[in-house]
Amino acid sequence: MLGNFEFANKTKLYFGENSLEFLNQELPKYGKNVQLIYGSGSIKRNGIYDKVVEILKSNGKEIFEDGGVMPNPTVEKLYEGIEIARKNHVDLLLCVGGGSCCDYAKAVSVSVHCTEDPWEKYFLKFEEPDCEPVPVGCVLTMVGTGSEMNAGSVITNHQTKQKIGHVFASEEIMPKFSILNPVFTYTLPKNQMVAGIYDIFNHICEQYFSGEDDNTSDYISEGLMKSLIHSSRIALENPTDYEARSNIMWTATWALNTLIAKGKSTDWMVHMLGQAVGAYTDATHGMTLAAVSLPYYKYILPYGLQKFKRFAEEVWNIDSSGKTAEQIALAGLDAMEDWMRELGLVMNLTELGVTEDMLEGLTKSTPVMTGGYKVLSAEEITNIFRASLH
Ligand code: NZQ
Ligand code: ZN
Repeated sequence: MLGNFEFANKTKLYFGENSLEFLNQELPKYGKNVQLIYGSGSIKRNGIYDKVVEILKSNGKEIFEDGGVMPNPTVEKLYEGIEIARKNHVDLLLCVGGGSCCDYAKAVSVSVHCTEDPWEKYFLKFEEPDCEPVPVGCVLTMVGTGSEMNAGSVITNHQTKQKIGHVFASEEIMPKFSILNPVFTYTLPKNQMVAGIYDIFNHICEQYFSGEDDNTSDYISEGLMKSLIHSSRIALENPTDYEARSNIMWTATWALNTLIAKGKSTDWMVHMLGQAVGAYTDATHGMTLAAVSLPYYKYILPYGLQKFKRFAEEVWNIDSSGKTAEQIALAGLDAMEDWMRELGLVMNLTELGVTEDMLEGLTKSTPVMTGGYKVLSAEEITNIFRASLH
């Protein structure tokens, strides 16, 4: 049953092999000063940096460099970015990279004209901006987070061992435009490609595994999951298969641009567990999710049995004849595990550097969500982390 909700998405997307051309169409809408945000150098090695700079220059823009955004951007880097934006009165934050650059750009955007401490205001108190955001544009080079078309921003504070995501309420915080060229993702190392694929899959699961009603969003989710599984296998064989890489890119965007959350309570518990691991180990986001997923889903399966049965039948084509609902549901998770192993994902926390003595701290760093099939106690969270160690 669908309830009452709002839906608006302000991001204009340009998709396809020639999509960077459209930067020429977007740039005239903003002032002269552009803060060019990027990561640790992949865009310089694969030539995307040169292409973007050429377009910026031919549009008469003044470029203020802001490179070195690390995977899992830190609060210290955020303060640095805010200073660059303030000092140079930037009119546009143009990020060229993955979710980390895009998330960081949004965090800078809401902080430039704000007098309060952004970590405290946005990531501890979860307040909404009361100052004018600086517009954000994105050229996406890594697929997974959906940050290119949502208002989410995840920042890590290593000092306090917290990795916190704020999904801003206003669609004004979403990028004004995002350029999605699947070819730009060809140079991703395999481990990043598959981590992104699992991130996408889990975003869909987080929204799908909630509620017991008949909801259109769940049917859309099943379609997205089937397409992703199919394309992932092709991309694994041949990373330059344009059709597969473009389908993966498009699925990522729809997996987390708020559409499939409509009418759903949504879970997000796997992300809370994974983000706590990220705060402790700085591990790749998608891998942290992969390492905790099966212990979590196996644990909550009895509480959401009918949905896990449906997942097995609709997404994994499990033949249900002669099986109980529980056997069908478990067979679905087995099929999911086989696929995860096929991709070569990290399947345990030990490989990510987690040790038994971290479990107490990890549990404390894990917020408890209430929208899924089981509200976990601290003890249950510790048990899931422990089961994820091996
Ligand atoms: O730093 P560079 O040189 O750019 O290298 C990156 C980085 O090492 C590299 N890379 C990106 N594009 C490439 C490439 N290497 C070669 N060729 C390319 N075309 O890939 C590495 C990972 O990049 P990153 O941006 O960190 O990955 P991702 O897109 O997975 O973003 C992860 C961040 O997003 C947050 C995560 O928590 C994490 O901090 N998330 C944001 C969400 C949102 N806004 O809604 C939701 C997600 O659940 C997630 O939490
Ligand atoms: Zn994610």
